[in-house]
Amino acid sequence: MNSDDLLAHDMVLDEEIRVPDSTAPPPTPRVPQEVLLTGATGYLGGRMCRTLLERTSATVYCLVRGARPHARLVERLEAAHDPQGPDLDISRLVTVPGDFTRQRLGLDPDVYDELASRVESVYHCGASIDLGDPYRVIRVPNVVGVTQMLRFATHRRLKFLHHTSSFAIFVAAAGCGVQAIDETTRPAIAYAGPGGYARSKSVAEHLLYQAAERGLPTAIYRVAVLAPDPDSPVPPSAAAQLFATYVRALTQVGAVPEGGEMVGCTVGYASRAITELSVQLPAEPFAAAPSVHHVIDPSPLALEDLARALRSTGHPIASLAPEQWLERLAAHRSRGPARRLAAMPDIWPLLTGAFFPPIHVGGLQRLAAAGVAPTSLDHDTLTRITHDTLGSETSQSNPKELHGRRRTGAVCSTEQISEKSRDQS
Ligand SMILES: NC(=O)c1ccc[n+]([C@@H]2O[C@H](COP(=O)([O-])OP(=O)(O)OC[C@H]3O[C@@H](n4cnc5c(N)ncnc54)[C@H](OP(=O)(O)O)[C@@H]3O)[C@@H](O)[C@H]2O)c1
Repeated sequence: MNSDDLLAHDMVLDEEIRVPDSTAPPPTPRVPQEVLLTGATGYLGGRMCRTLLERTSATVYCLVRGARPHARLVERLEAAHDPQGPDLDISRLVTVPGDFTRQRLGLDPDVYDELASRVESVYHCGASIDLGDPYRVIRVPNVVGVTQMLRFATHRRLKFLHHTSSFAIFVAAAGCGVQAIDETTRPAIAYAGPGGYARSKSVAEHLLYQAAERGLPTAIYRVAVLAPDPDSPVPPSAAAQLFATYVRALTQVGAVPEGGEMVGCTVGYASRAITELSVQLPAEPFAAAPSVHHVIDPSPLALEDLARALRSTGHPIASLAPEQWLERLAAHRSRGPARRLAAMPDIWPLLTGAFFPPIHVGGLQRLAAAGVAPTSLDHDTLTRITHDTLGSETSQSNPKELHGRRRTGAVCSTEQISEKSRDQS
């Protein structure tokens, strides 16, 4: 299949994914008792896991792939730990070793059936954010993965699917004549430009829109660049993150684009906002479209503030006109973090604020009423974050231990899912 045919093929949701005939009660996003989270060993998913445990009383099943899944999950939670935050009770945490790109999420049929019967809401935070990958590679985690999660959401009982998306799906929107983006803007594939990551996230949204048209309850949370939190150490996995790549590339290039702004928010705000918005959804939002939410700070981070913070940590950073900055980046593109940044032009508009249509952010008042507000990064905080980010390149971070019960929770088998269910009933 050539790449155009592959894209056209991927944009059509499998006919088999339909609302099931089931006697199970409809999903209840407001007071979930059992939820499945993907991506919990990742940057945002690790925070989501923590927020779900803190904000809800649900059992949180985390689908984790690869070796040592439970130990890796606990390590991530330790890295995401807020020293000022409440003790985290991880007795409601259940690790499910699996892989969302595989049939039945890589689970044994009986485990898959049991989990599908129990779970009411799915938080799909897992994805690949490898911005250098071509579409044919990244479609596996980001498109096949979403299809498998939609299949799971319709197996045995209907579940609410909360999906994390990216504003990268709009990086070429301005060039397509889009004047502004709001929560009703349905992405056209052309708005994503040629990059594999942006296209894969756009195709995923297309599939969610089709699922919603078939009656599946779905919500989309669009996030942008996720900056570290002021209240937690920069996690070791931050080495792989956009924010860290960008800070390192700016340091290497020695300049920021003048007047630039970074579209995004802190990872902790994204996590709290997604969780809060998800539990505020009406009990029966079976509209023909997903419930879409923009999760960004409406006051973006000025790159000049970032430059000032970098200067305070001893890095000489100039401010250059955007065109000159791009030339400087091109001159450094053969090595180091600038090489990684230069290989992902499809997100430059998010990082520089240039060429991006204005974004409408709804839901801020509702979030504020629930005590959830964007975290602003003042000079001292930015200085510490940039220092930690640059420092984590060479030194190993020393994640703090979880308060309260440590290293409990469980790795589940069918029996354990059943036991868990019996315990709770
Ligand atoms: N980071 C940002 O600035 C940013 C910006 C915009 C949107 N987003 C979106 O936010 C979401 C989370 O991103 P992130 O930054 O947290 O990414 P991340 O740190 O790279 O985490 C990705 C997570 O997905 C898991 N995963 C990937 N493939 C999997 C598979 N086949 N089966 C099971 N788990 C799998 C990873 O597991 P392993 O630990 O095993 O690799 C990891 O837990 C994504 O949807 C991304 O598109 C992020």
